[in-house]
Amino acid sequence: MTWLITGGAGYIGAHVARVMTAAGERVVVLDDLSTGVAERLPATIPLVRGSLLDREAVDRTLAAHKVTGVVHLAAKKQVGESVEQPLRYYRENLHGLTVLLDGVVAAGVRRFLFSSSAAVYGVPDVELITERTPAVPINPYGETKLAGEWLVRATGQAHGIATGCLRYFNVAGAATPELADTGVFNIIPMFFDRISRGEAPRIFGDDYPTPDGTCIRDYIHVADLADAHLAAARRLAGQEGAGDLTVNIGRGEGVSVRELADLVAEVTGHRAGTVVEARRPGDAARAVASVGLIAEKLGWTASHGVREMVESAWEGWRLHHPATVVG
Ligand SMILES: NC(=O)c1ccc[n+]([C@@H]2O[C@H](COP(=O)([O-])OP(=O)(O)OC[C@H]3O[C@@H](n4cnc5c(N)ncnc54)[C@H](O)[C@@H]3O)[C@@H](O)[C@H]2O)c1
Repeated sequence: MTWLITGGAGYIGAHVARVMTAAGERVVVLDDLSTGVAERLPATIPLVRGSLLDREAVDRTLAAHKVTGVVHLAAKKQVGESVEQPLRYYRENLHGLTVLLDGVVAAGVRRFLFSSSAAVYGVPDVELITERTPAVPINPYGETKLAGEWLVRATGQAHGIATGCLRYFNVAGAATPELADTGVFNIIPMFFDRISRGEAPRIFGDDYPTPDGTCIRDYIHVADLADAHLAAARRLAGQEGAGDLTVNIGRGEGVSVRELADLVAEVTGHRAGTVVEARRPGDAARAVASVGLIAEKLGWTASHGVREMVESAWEGWRLHHPATVVG
């Protein structure tokens, strides 16, 4: 098979591209480099610079590389930005997906894996979020992911395509420092950013109904996430005709923001403490995945712990911010 990885120059996509290539899969990347970095990919992986929104670029790439399966990661992913710019998010994430799926159907591609998100669940009040927990997103980003799943499944059913929707929980860490997330949108880079400025990491709310009062999340190492993509892609490759696999990807273990902040202090050696600020709207007290279904269907479970995520992310941060001084 030859897999097209959209968004393969991004943080997660570059990990997926490398893991799939190392496992012997043929891979080609389509990326407009809007947030991606070409240097994340080795020269052996072909990179087509183009947008999902450009049907010709999609068709050309599918045909020129004789693509037989797609791993679709390209998207805009900032929740706050999606609230301010819903049209852009629906255009990029949902219209972009329709253009890609049109190309996939026309080219006769029969395997399609979609990057979804725990954001589809919104703020459910449950101990563990299963794939049957109602999906009620609370922002345009989550809406585009949920509607994207519907579109992927419906297209798969109508055109005999094996599909998978992977609902990632909080992704962190890096397989190697140069592949680290360079954006400051997730909690660990946000902590590092404050430390680098000599400021205390911020905790938003410590009056939640949790043991230490801070929010609880499920963190997944990006290297484990990439392995899960390989397992899912291989399962789709072995399947004939339509049929969907929608699964959570997490560790199934909750870590509080306070615990994470303590771990960050330990790993980085900073002594700035933390500051507690007001709750942010839209933050659930607890969001932890049930991971039984992915273990059952793919035989996959996470192998890296939260300390490895913080340590590898910190190595990556220091590579990309060499001026960082910790005190
Ligand atoms: N990082 C997380 O914690 C997280 C959690 C859940 C889901 N996801 C999803 O995982 C996927 C990858 O996220 P990431 O963290 O690697 O983000 P990223 O921004 O690093 O990667 C996205 C990639 O897609 C490319 N891209 C964006 N729009 C494009 C377009 N129109 N055409 C072609 N390429 C385009 C970007 O240049 C970039 O390389 C996204 O779909 C995101 O919604 C991420």
